[in-house]
Amino acid sequence: MLDLTGKVAFVAGAGSVAEGWGNGRATAVLLARQGARVFGTDYSDEALAGTSAIMEQEGHRNWAGRKADMTSTEQVKQAVDACVQRFGRIDILVNNIGGSAPGDPVSLSVEDWDNQMDRNLKTAFLGCKHVLPVMEEQFRTEGKGGAIVNVSSIGSMTFQVGGRVHVGYAASKAGLEAFSRATAIAYVRKGIRVNTVVVGMMQTPLVTHRLTKQLGAGAEDLVAKRNAVIPIGRMGDAWDVANAVVFLASDEAGYITATQLVVDGGVTAARPGAIEAASA
Ligand SMILES: NC(=O)c1ccc[n+]([C@@H]2O[C@H](COP(=O)([O-])OP(=O)(O)OC[C@H]3O[C@@H](n4cnc5c(N)ncnc54)[C@H](O)[C@@H]3O)[C@@H](O)[C@H]2O)c1
Repeated sequence: MLDLTGKVAFVAGAGSVAEGWGNGRATAVLLARQGARVFGTDYSDEALAGTSAIMEQEGHRNWAGRKADMTSTEQVKQAVDACVQRFGRIDILVNNIGGSAPGDPVSLSVEDWDNQMDRNLKTAFLGCKHVLPVMEEQFRTEGKGGAIVNVSSIGSMTFQVGGRVHVGYAASKAGLEAFSRATAIAYVRKGIRVNTVVVGMMQTPLVTHRLTKQLGAGAEDLVAKRNAVIPIGRMGDAWDVANAVVFLASDEAGYITATQLVVDGGVTAARPGAIEAASA
């Protein structure tokens, strides 16, 4: 099951914003554990070095990390070329880069709006722009295209994450999901599947470090509050995301395209008060 031996995966945002397991890092390592050769990019040397250290520790020799800003079309193209040069092909693309900036249309600066579109949407567009031709050529020559997994957020559906409004995040992640479906249909007869993992409230370094800083609340407080509103009773973690990404990238998901897999412990399905009512 989920054997990725022989496959090459390109993971955009394969580091972690702080020490520990971010979604991209866990995904890169899980892909390697399942047998894939993994090429990871990150714009942070430190983040990349952290992932490289784990790959080395676990003995994954078929790992290559490259510094690249995935909002730059030149740097994405260079990274994709470097991956093909190193490993000969690309079977899996994971567009993991993303992050939120709070604000409504008045309070969110124009600069932050543009930044949200670049970070959450343009990175996936550029990943697809440069990787799709590689996969299409593989399909033409050997009948094997590839699988693309984009990483979104329930912020695309709930419009308020952790009590704060994020119109830029909501719009860019909803755009990412629409982009994924449209791209999936454009490439459905070219052996390429495109799906999205829609991530709920996870306990990753992104939350415990960055959000804690932004909100000025203690990490424990924030985690306890979030655990309480999740139907399954706790926040998920980076491995919950990585498991979903690896499944959608694997041949076992071969009939699945143009869809979203929501990994949120039930949050988006439950109205406020539903948990209390169900357990009364
Ligand atoms: N953690 C959560 O609770 C949560 C919830 C919903 C959705 N998500 C989504 O999961 C994804 C990743 O989460 P994570 O926990 O791995 O975050 P993370 O910030 O820890 O990891 C992302 C990595 O991408 C890198 N990066 C950021 N911008 C880049 C750029 N322009 N070019 C290259 N590298 C760049 C960062 O340096 C970092 O190492 C995001 O798309 C995020 O929106 C996370």
